[in-house]
Amino acid sequence: MQNKKTILITGWTGYIGSHWVVAFEEAGYKTVIVDNLSNSSLDTLDWIEKILEYKPDFFEVDLRSPPLTPPLSGEGNNDENNKINFINWEKVEKQFSLEEIFEKYDFDGVIHFAWLKAVWESCEKPLEYFDNNIVGSIKLFELMEKFWVKNIVFSSSATVYAPENSSPLVETMTTWNTSNPYWRTKFLIENILEDLAKFSWFRVANLRYFNPIWAHPSWEIWEDPAWIPNNLLPFIMKVATGELKELQVFWNDYDTIDWTWVRDYIDVVDLIDWHLKAYKNLNPHPNPPLSGEGNKTAWIFETYNLWVGRWVSVLEMIEIARKVTKKEIPYKIVERRAWDLAEVYCNPDKANKELNWKAKTSLEESIKNSWKFYNK
Ligand code: NAD
Ligand code: WQD
Repeated sequence: MQNKKTILITGWTGYIGSHWVVAFEEAGYKTVIVDNLSNSSLDTLDWIEKILEYKPDFFEVDLRSPPLTPPLSGEGNNDENNKINFINWEKVEKQFSLEEIFEKYDFDGVIHFAWLKAVWESCEKPLEYFDNNIVGSIKLFELMEKFWVKNIVFSSSATVYAPENSSPLVETMTTWNTSNPYWRTKFLIENILEDLAKFSWFRVANLRYFNPIWAHPSWEIWEDPAWIPNNLLPFIMKVATGELKELQVFWNDYDTIDWTWVRDYIDVVDLIDWHLKAYKNLNPHPNPPLSGEGNKTAWIFETYNLWVGRWVSVLEMIEIARKVTKKEIPYKIVERRAWDLAEVYCNPDKANKELNWKAKTSLEESIKNSWKFYNK
């Protein structure tokens, strides 16, 4: 049987990444997953095992893990000319390093999800976000370079579009330095990947999306962040179950359909299928170049907006949720969040055409799946 291609997924046990594993395994790839469990738990591995009936290879690793260096000479076994030729690893406290995983597997490519992603937290801990998201990504790219793994799908965000652009946003529009550390880390890594494509022949699918919602139909995987959810749908669900008293609607003075914020919510299963298409589109990289020159024409840097193309206000979301859950879902208008953008939606034509794919899950279906789980 043709050997399966092996994909490294970083940040797999997160909300979006966990759906990824199912889609990729079902599409015939072997997935190897690394996650430092800073915003997820090993429960995800159990959910994945229930769906796949086996556990993919998982390593609890931080992207910034130092490469394993041999113990100082004298601790290892040295050959006659006193060079370390065999490491007695038993002596080294066993810890996985990302480099060891690159040595262990022959990766065809990487899907890069591992990120800290809470806007409010990034404003409180900017350096932690820069270290985790920028340094972590660069450590990953260095190993990709070292082991000639050039295909990467990067999970970026529509927040990199500069505010002077008006929705619907298209890929050619200007990006900006953004207004908070989280969004800035997306902007910076996008630009680093573009340079790695041009000068180091990386093949990059740069995917911009904004509001993924809900979960695998098996209902075993859902957005269950280690802290109170930030996003609209989990909050609506927690009001519907009575866990929260009412929903706070962040302001209603925008020139939109009912003065509340407009978004294009995309079902996470649709989103993941799109990632799969984008990865397949990268095609296998030509063999490592014999000369230092490399195959300069082999590089790719393509950006795609992954969006449904329908725009829904907060109050419309509440209405749909009321119909689906048959619950009142009380709400209160409160001050907006400092970083909120009134209208953000993108034009998905490029992805629809070039990746030959359109989102197919209705909002009602996503919310129904959501309610089936929260109401368990
Ligand atoms: P998540 O927090 O659920 O998943 C991220 C995972 O990465 C977590 O499991 C976390 O433990 C892991 N991680 C973080 N830092 C790490 C490190 N240094 N080393 C190893 N693992 C690390 O987030 P998500 O919602 O699944 O988002 C996945 C990706 O999609 C992120 O890059 C995020 O920025 C991007 N994204 C998310 C949204 C959204 O609204 N959820 C929208 C657009 C883009
Ligand atoms: C959706 C709408 C709120 C909660 C966030 C991140 C962004 C991106 C996607 C990564 C907004 C309103 C929400 C609530 C509300 N992630 N709302 N009451 O703000 O569009 O984007 O996730 O790139 O970085 O900022 O998503 O789900 O928080 O809000 O009124 O309790 O619902 O104002 O208009 P958002 P969200």
